[in-house]
Amino acid sequence: MSNPVATPATEVVLPGEVEPSGLRLRTRDLPPPTAGRVLLRMEATGVSFAEQQMRRGKYYDQPPFPFVPGYDVVGTVVATGPGVDPAMVGRRVAAVTKTGAWASHLLLDAADAVPVPDGVAAADAETVVVNGVTAWQMLHRTAKVSRGATIVVLGANGGVGSTLVQLARHAGITVIGTASARHHDAVRALGATPVDYRDPEQYRRIRQLAPHGVDAVFDHVGGAGLEESWRLLRRGGTLVSYGTAATKDEAGNSRLPVLKLFARLALWNLLPNGRSAHFYNLWAGKRRPASFRARLREDLTQVLTLLADGTLTAQVAAEFPLDQAAAALALAESRTVAGKVVIVA
Ligand SMILES: NC(=O)c1ccc[n+]([C@@H]2O[C@H](COP(=O)([O-])OP(=O)(O)OC[C@H]3O[C@@H](n4cnc5c(N)ncnc54)[C@H](OP(=O)(O)O)[C@@H]3O)[C@@H](O)[C@H]2O)c1
Repeated sequence: MSNPVATPATEVVLPGEVEPSGLRLRTRDLPPPTAGRVLLRMEATGVSFAEQQMRRGKYYDQPPFPFVPGYDVVGTVVATGPGVDPAMVGRRVAAVTKTGAWASHLLLDAADAVPVPDGVAAADAETVVVNGVTAWQMLHRTAKVSRGATIVVLGANGGVGSTLVQLARHAGITVIGTASARHHDAVRALGATPVDYRDPEQYRRIRQLAPHGVDAVFDHVGGAGLEESWRLLRRGGTLVSYGTAATKDEAGNSRLPVLKLFARLALWNLLPNGRSAHFYNLWAGKRRPASFRARLREDLTQVLTLLADGTLTAQVAAEFPLDQAAAALALAESRTVAGKVVIVA
């Protein structure tokens, strides 16, 4: 049922290019949800790599400052707008928002809300929203990796990486995962063979593990190492590039590193060597909202179901209350954590 009164919401604001300590808190009244919208009470929201880029003004699709960050959310519907099934009130749902989720309450299109299975803790569900969709789609839609294949996952301790490793293992795929040495036990526990990305011999080590080349490499680092990722592939193998973490601190246009990357991948695809190179973008196809939403809903539901049945184990690095979002972001940026830093209500 629609909530006739305004709802006070506490929001975290990114005011401009600031250090994590420059995040601000504000309170404002949210109006009741309009047609097709719901009001959500946030239970858990995530710290993604995207916010590290956004606070530097370096995100590919950078929102203008000031704005409320928050790429994804798990929460309970507390009010519905006209045209939305009032039975949604009280349901726990998940959504990918890109921005706006670091808030106690937020307004959302009802069509973007995906049900969370009963019995799954909000923080656990949170770890597989944007990360789960990204990992699932790269593995099963972009690279279409088959059972019995061998893949390389860069950053296997990270939010996306740790989910990708688990999904791949579940699908009968052998995984080599790069991570700093401190995370090797954790990466092993997920079922992957760890390789230290700081070791100058890392590519030789990967070749020792997969002498005939690998079927797919998932690379969010880019930079000089991208060519090494490409060279690891066997004939018929697929490179899935999905970020440029290596250029995060470079000054200049935030789109340039990505555009350079696209050009490189396009060139590689022209080479007659049987390999293919893709850039994965979660927002691709957004201009056709119905099919975009249907795909996202289907894939997120698959991943949440695997979490609910225990196939996936949520990798929660740490939990912080909303008013400590600055500490949450600083921890995520410390390059010491395994899994996802989660902000909870
Ligand atoms: N294209 C898309 O649609 C899409 C969607 C979602 C995410 N992404 C991308 O996915 C990536 C991972 O996101 P996340 O939220 O999972 O991040 P995260 O949890 O912070 O994990 C990042 C991982 O990358 C490693 N890493 C970071 N910087 C690195 C560098 N310069 N060289 C080598 N390794 C580095 C980290 O290792 P340490 O822990 O040792 O630092 C960690 O394993 C990001 O680049 C993000 O932009 C892309």
